[in-house]
Amino acid sequence: MSVRAVVKGVGHYLPERIVENSEFEESLETSDEWIRSRSGIERRHLAADGETTSQMATAAATAALKDAGLTAGDIDAIIVATSTADLTFPSAATMVQHALGMTKGYAFDVQAVCAGFVFALSNANALIVSGQAKRVLVIGAETFSRIMDWTDRGTCVLFGDGAGALILEAAEGEGTPSDRGILSVDLNSDGSQRDILYVDGGVSTQSTGHLRMQGKEVFRHAVEKLARTADTALEKIGLTGDDVDWIVPHQANLRIITKTAQKMGVPMDRVVVTVQDHGNTSAASIPLALSVGKARGQIKQGDLVVTEAIGGGLAWGAVVLRW
Ligand code: UT7
Repeated sequence: MSVRAVVKGVGHYLPERIVENSEFEESLETSDEWIRSRSGIERRHLAADGETTSQMATAAATAALKDAGLTAGDIDAIIVATSTADLTFPSAATMVQHALGMTKGYAFDVQAVCAGFVFALSNANALIVSGQAKRVLVIGAETFSRIMDWTDRGTCVLFGDGAGALILEAAEGEGTPSDRGILSVDLNSDGSQRDILYVDGGVSTQSTGHLRMQGKEVFRHAVEKLARTADTALEKIGLTGDDVDWIVPHQANLRIITKTAQKMGVPMDRVVVTVQDHGNTSAASIPLALSVGKARGQIKQGDLVVTEAIGGGLAWGAVVLRW
């Protein structure tokens, strides 16, 4: 017997404002055709003036609690994966804790940029397996629109805002890959690649800064590393791409998603794709895709799900779970 962190509920929130690719044609030398063909993105949601990451995270958490049939009082810990918290401190997670009316437990943020949700899931799993928490609310929430250089066509057309949330609960399993819950994790980072994806500002450099990316380089690393980390996580429990019901990838670029699935030997009809509607929402993209994938009727109880992501750091990893 072993303790597993099992999914109890999922939910998401997207800001009301939808920006179609064609809107960028007015202010930038770009086209719907270029954005669509190079990234697969067709539209994205952008936060309203004054709308913050913790507000979106709270809305996603509320939806996940409803889906689970739980209340905030049932939660022991909150982890928010974000690189765009409302304030330098306190954490977005403690703001969510307060907004939900949760008066016990603890809350903290995890910052691994676009891989943040995978790192947060791994942390939540560790808390549950070690007995430090019974129920953990894991949220990915971002307002990347606040760190865009709106004159840089190479980045600003790619990102969007949103939030997704998952509730994990301790349950007894057999200790086999047939168990529900998180089954395997593979995490990696390489700080030598800082300059290909970073924000040129921060607290100790005294500015907010803007996202800078060498797109081609990041693309190359993504295609090389994502299938490998996903396959490694599967191998750790004796599984392969053949066993996978759904890949739920970080949604940065449809070409990266497709190449990764190809390398893993998983057909595209077993991949949850939302990049066309959300753009790249960084740490929010996987929980958003999990929530949308469930709502579409794609992800069902008992399905083997592989999440994989890469982002600034570089930081990358994969989590295998049975829904
Ligand atoms: O979430 C974190 C991880 N991030 C990613 O995974 C993103 C990874 N990178 C990518 O998704 C792709 O590299 C991009 C979508 C960013 C770019 O696609 P690409 O096929 O690698 O294009 P490129 O960077 O090689 O650019 C090709 C051309 C360039 O023109 P020249 O130098 O060939 O004349 C760019 O200046 O496209 C130009 N370009 C654009 N043209 C129209 C760049 N952005 C745009 C644009 N509209 N928005």
